[in-house]
Amino acid sequence: MTPRLIYSFLIISNVWLALGASAWGNEVSQTVRTYAFPTDPFFYQPGPGQELANVYCIICHSAEYMYTQPPHSKKTWIEIVNKMKRAMGCPIPDDQIGSLATYLFQQNSTSPIPPPASP
Ligand code: HEC
Repeated sequence: MTPRLIYSFLIISNVWLALGASAWGNEVSQTVRTYAFPTDPFFYQPGPGQELANVYCIICHSAEYMYTQPPHSKKTWIEIVNKMKRAMGCPIPDDQIGSLATYLFQQNSTSPIPPPASP
């Protein structure tokens, strides 16, 4: 065997030893844990009107702004959308505001973000 071959042999056998040792070490009993992640609060959740919200209402901030609001009436949602349009510059067309407000009103009563754990 040339020194080069011996060197390669040593490297390869060390890799196998390491792999064998780590497989042996893994025989410790493993507990399966499952975690429930909250739905993504960045985007608006499924429902009629979702497309409108995901087009016009995540230009500047995430959907979390809506989901973390206390429950509002549909009239208040129309006012908020109008504020986003007139004061902030949201490009939503006037004839879409009613449908969007209906969607926001329905979504606002659901919460994809779990409430904070009580102390
Ligand atoms: C052009 C940027 C922009 C767009 C587009 C936009 N917002 Fe906002 N939004 C803001 C800003 C800035 C604030 C923070 C205002 C403040 O702190 O007074 C805000 C705040 C909010 C709030 C918190 C409550 C409030 O009245 O301040 C809600 C709810 C909200 N936006 C919903 C929406 C919805 C629904 C849409 C889609 C129609 C939308 N936003 C589109 C900029 C925008």
